[in-house]
Amino acid sequence: MCGIVGYVGKQNAVAIILEGLKRLEYRGYDSAGVCVEKGRKLDVVKKTGRVDRLAKEVAKSRLSGTTGIGHTRWATHGGVTDANAHPHVSSDGRFALIHNGVIENYAQMKKFLLGKGYTFKSETDTEVLCNLIAYHYAKEPKRAKGPSRFVESVRKTLRHVEGTYGIAVLCVDFPGEIVGARKASPLILGVGDQEYILASDASALVSRTQNVVYLKDGEIAHLTPKAFSISTLDQDDVSPVVDTITWSVSDAEKGAHAHFMEKEIFEQPTALENAMRGRFSADGSTAQFGGLNITPGEFREIERFMFCACGTAWHACLVTEHLIERFARIPVEVDYASEFRYRNSPLHPRTLFFVMSQSGETIDTLAALREAKRKGYRVMAVNNVVGSSIAREADGGIYQHVGPEVGVASTKAFTSQLLIGAMIALYLARMRDMSFSDGVEYVEALKGAPDLVRHALKQAPRIREIARKYAGYHDMLFLGRLSLFPLALEGALKLKEISYIHAEGYPAAEMKHGPIALISEKCPAVFFAPKSEIFSKIVSSMQEIKARKGPIIAIATEGVELPKGVADDVIPIPDCHEAVLPIVAAIPVQLLSYYIAVERGCDVDKPRNLAKSVTVE
Ligand code: F6R
Repeated sequence: MCGIVGYVGKQNAVAIILEGLKRLEYRGYDSAGVCVEKGRKLDVVKKTGRVDRLAKEVAKSRLSGTTGIGHTRWATHGGVTDANAHPHVSSDGRFALIHNGVIENYAQMKKFLLGKGYTFKSETDTEVLCNLIAYHYAKEPKRAKGPSRFVESVRKTLRHVEGTYGIAVLCVDFPGEIVGARKASPLILGVGDQEYILASDASALVSRTQNVVYLKDGEIAHLTPKAFSISTLDQDDVSPVVDTITWSVSDAEKGAHAHFMEKEIFEQPTALENAMRGRFSADGSTAQFGGLNITPGEFREIERFMFCACGTAWHACLVTEHLIERFARIPVEVDYASEFRYRNSPLHPRTLFFVMSQSGETIDTLAALREAKRKGYRVMAVNNVVGSSIAREADGGIYQHVGPEVGVASTKAFTSQLLIGAMIALYLARMRDMSFSDGVEYVEALKGAPDLVRHALKQAPRIREIARKYAGYHDMLFLGRLSLFPLALEGALKLKEISYIHAEGYPAAEMKHGPIALISEKCPAVFFAPKSEIFSKIVSSMQEIKARKGPIIAIATEGVELPKGVADDVIPIPDCHEAVLPIVAAIPVQLLSYYIAVERGCDVDKPRNLAKSVTVE
């Protein structure tokens, strides 16, 4: 949700900011803008539409300078207009500001500022913040020593703010300086060679430096051409910890692929290898996790698990629930993070809480984590982005290690969450009743998952053909049972988010309790039909659909016999262990949605109205 970049150094800030914005575009693409400070002037260019459009405008206006800020917007307050695009400039012309987040008490602050004579050009909460800084600055005495008037006016303003923010601010009186701050919206400081870069995530700065400081909530960074300092809202100095990013810029590029989503689908075998590396015990019978900060003894005391997440990550939690209950026989509850945070549901005292989040910045998941901690529960995180808010606030965690996921539709992060969920189930099962030999068999199955995914990916040309046939439909059902019911939900979500075809996921047998009314030759159904003890029940559901002329795409285990004529198209998946099945079954639905979206001419990596990393409620 909105991407921000700020640059202080000796190079052309505009080019660096535009490159950073391009990489952050997955966070929002309603409008984009840039502001450079030059000769005590703030020059702003901003436009609705994508960063490419902004780049053309910037070229026309010959914008240049060595200090600047830029923004790509996912609209919250105010429509998609040039005026609402960031950066916003205070009505006295002294400050320019970019913002990711939501200022909840902006209306009362705006009223106050209007009373003081400040004027507004946009409908945004951000412009209010910018003017409030100008207001505090006007009252702030000039100082010869200590924190500058610029930093203090930002600090005072933020003390009055309710809501979330990642901001970067320029001030004409402080050339070559930027003040940045964060609360619940990510902000990273890149420490380069005679330059500093602020950005919403590492992809925007990794081409210039791999040394970063992950700012914490309530911290303010002050960048000058020669140094940076960090302090808190309470004016305490912070000693920065400089971390190193372990991936490089090529990991965040799509290379020869048409879309990031395609690249990330095909990257899954390697991603899974990375996610499991070093995570099996020496005797090869169970999983091991370095970062959980919980002893085996404490783990054994746990009587229930609660998993919270949003969207695709929530589907991964549902699969994990199935595997933990099936193999470890421990009750698991799964809730939408957005519901859990307000539901105040009773929790068993011996519950261990897990959140799953690729980005680690999803505000609902972060709030669920905080709510569980507030109630005194220990919270573990399954998370991909190192140093994210969720990773920092959790009591322990498991990193997914799949590198940056740029496509808005989650793919490799999802299958790695499924893998980690399967490993958690194994770990718990081996602590209880699972035998050594069953453990070894389970571990071998997980180790084989990357090759099975490679095998499943070989169906891509066939799935592309099938996609051509179905791209013109308006509705689709996805049906699966047991561990593949969440895959039906995921298939429907993938299809609707990138191709705009209405799709629903159901447990296959539930179909006859309502959704069957939708079935006709105009509503195809995608069925998961793996080899299992309930295979014949799945076939019965398929026949009920066929009897009503519904076209059927079956995702079936290689070698299973489907009655003649029941499926119009079959996508084979390799036979595999129950713990690996959801991972393998994810591949055909990802490819089907991807190719259908491409066939329909959709902007796969930037679906309308969406953005990756939902940092607003
Ligand atoms: C769908 C998708 C979203 C995310 C959800 C949670 O393809 O990507 O549904 O899964 O917004 O995001 P994270 O995992 O970053 O918390």
